[in-house]
Amino acid sequence: MGAISGIVAFVPDKQFSQWSETAIMTQYPARYPLTSKPPRTSSSVTVSRIPRILAVANQKGGVGKTTTAINLATGLCAVGKRVLLVDLDPQGNASTGLGVRRSTIQKSTYDVIFGDVNVLDALVKTKVPGLSVVPSSVHLSGAEIELVTAKRREYRLREALRNPMPYDYIIIDCPPSLNLLTLNALVATDSIVVPLQCEFYALEGLSHLVKTVERVKKTYNPRLNIHGVLLTMYDKRNNLSGMVARDVRKFFGDKVYKTVIPRNVRVSEAPSYGLPAIVYDMRCPGAQAYIHLAGEVLKRERKLMGQSRAA
Ligand SMILES: Nc1ncnc2c1ncn2[C@@H]1O[C@H](COP(=O)(O)OP(=O)(O)O)[C@@H](O)[C@H]1O
Ligand SMILES: [Mg+2]
Repeated sequence: MGAISGIVAFVPDKQFSQWSETAIMTQYPARYPLTSKPPRTSSSVTVSRIPRILAVANQKGGVGKTTTAINLATGLCAVGKRVLLVDLDPQGNASTGLGVRRSTIQKSTYDVIFGDVNVLDALVKTKVPGLSVVPSSVHLSGAEIELVTAKRREYRLREALRNPMPYDYIIIDCPPSLNLLTLNALVATDSIVVPLQCEFYALEGLSHLVKTVERVKKTYNPRLNIHGVLLTMYDKRNNLSGMVARDVRKFFGDKVYKTVIPRNVRVSEAPSYGLPAIVYDMRCPGAQAYIHLAGEVLKRERKLMGQSRAA
């Protein structure tokens, strides 16, 4: 039995017991038509508090950050969490991957960072009940240079996001670099999720990311921690994937999520339909893995919350 075989079953977690196929189909009828209502759960009552923030970060491109941000956000929504995805990458793949057309974007993450636009005035509702996105725009590609001379340049995003709002989680999709935009995400967030592609150079550059996290923790955001490391694009037919996974687990120990995301063509097709893989084809192994991941993330969250209450 390979590491992947266990992924196909649903996560045996109490909160996810409602993740039967019928329940998902009921919550997301007919592939989530625009009119579908948010799930009726206790947390969909409008309550405003400062949301928990998770940033999906790795300075490497193409490792699965955006795919993870979109599908983790969707997985959390499916159990009734209200989630805001902040697209911090000028390429805007998280926005288009959620069906937001570039031509329709009026306010973007850029305006939230520079224009004193309230995040609630910039967000766009998506087809996924409970999920909104603050879209990226091309202006964001100039943000790096503009931030250099901006006042409180490291805290811009933090000040915009750390306010009471009717969301349980904010997921930030970071750009593929360790620039001032990513620094803003690290300063704003509670925790980071680090996707690692199961390929030969997976660990390359990671020590730089870990050092950056330590530095940000010391200087700007004492509570910052790594929520978990996620193995992505695992190919069970390729020995290298298994070797990389073993190395990463040796290096990061328990920080590595048990859930592994398999390489799955359905996952890569979904964005061209403007849908999360979980919605596009809930039964495909990639979608199932992301459902598991959402369960594992919530489990870790409960543990982390327990620890911070005890401290
Ligand atoms: N599990 C997967 N299986 C197959 N293709 C994937 C998977 N995860 C991501 N991809 C594809 O790999 C490419 C890079 O993923 P993406 O999430 O955009 O990475 P990043 O945001 O780190 O640049 C995209 O084309 C995406 O569709
Ligand atoms: Mg991306």
